[in-house]
Amino acid sequence: MAAMLKVNDIHVYYGKIHAVKGVSFEVNEGEIVSLIGANGAGKSTILKTVSGLMHPKSGTIEFMGKDIAHMEPNKIVTKGLVHVPEGRRVFAHMSVMENIEMGAYILGKAPEEAVEDVFTRFPRLKERRKQEAGTLSGGEQQMLAMARALMSKPKLIMMDEPSMGLSPILVEQIFSIIYELRESGVTILLVEQNANKALKITDRAYVLETGKITLSGTGRELLEKEEVKKAYLGG
Ligand SMILES: Nc1ncnc2c1ncn2[C@@H]1O[C@H](COP(=O)(O)OP(=O)(O)O)[C@@H](O)[C@H]1O
Ligand SMILES: [Mg+2]
Repeated sequence: MAAMLKVNDIHVYYGKIHAVKGVSFEVNEGEIVSLIGANGAGKSTILKTVSGLMHPKSGTIEFMGKDIAHMEPNKIVTKGLVHVPEGRRVFAHMSVMENIEMGAYILGKAPEEAVEDVFTRFPRLKERRKQEAGTLSGGEQQMLAMARALMSKPKLIMMDEPSMGLSPILVEQIFSIIYELRESGVTILLVEQNANKALKITDRAYVLETGKITLSGTGRELLEKEEVKKAYLGG
């Protein structure tokens, strides 16, 4: 199977800081792939680079056979690759509905059926569609960020720490939404510090340490590995 996303030996810098040091990985169509690793390992930098917010100094990034390493973020979204950033970043002073419509903005007017689709997936957001996004709870804001991303009908969605700061019940909900998304045909690249949860729903995962991939395997294989248990699963 040809990889949907193929990242090959990318090096990414913030000025002189070498944040990503020769990272390569692949995501195949229909998979949930996770990047796990401690704070500062370079997970968010990788997602920002794949989505075009940053560019690699060297290396290649192919999405559906096209080199996107130096493409602008908007163009990448129109190709079907969307990024739900760390910390949600909803437009706090806009309504839920306006936030959702923004997700389709670069594609033109929000299609009615796409709005219906996200409201079916997130009934809570439908109830609150007129409410200011900044007044939503953390879990609702995460759902809104996901809903907004889905408006562009992505083939691949990248999510950066979707469970961060949420209560255990909401973490469960977010993970079941991710699982349902995959069932509906969206390919997923997930970044998580909650390695235990992520590895349980993941097909394959890569462990990142200070800008380099140190381990990879299926979710199940990594859950069993002593070094993963020690470093990321609390013993
Ligand atoms: N805006 C920035 N300016 C300079 N260094 C940064 C910036 N953002 C991240 N870094 C550095 O890059 C490295 C990787 O960060 P990041 O990708 O955010 O890690 P993670 O998402 O795994 O926590 C860290 O050493 C971090 O300090
Ligand atoms: Mg991060």
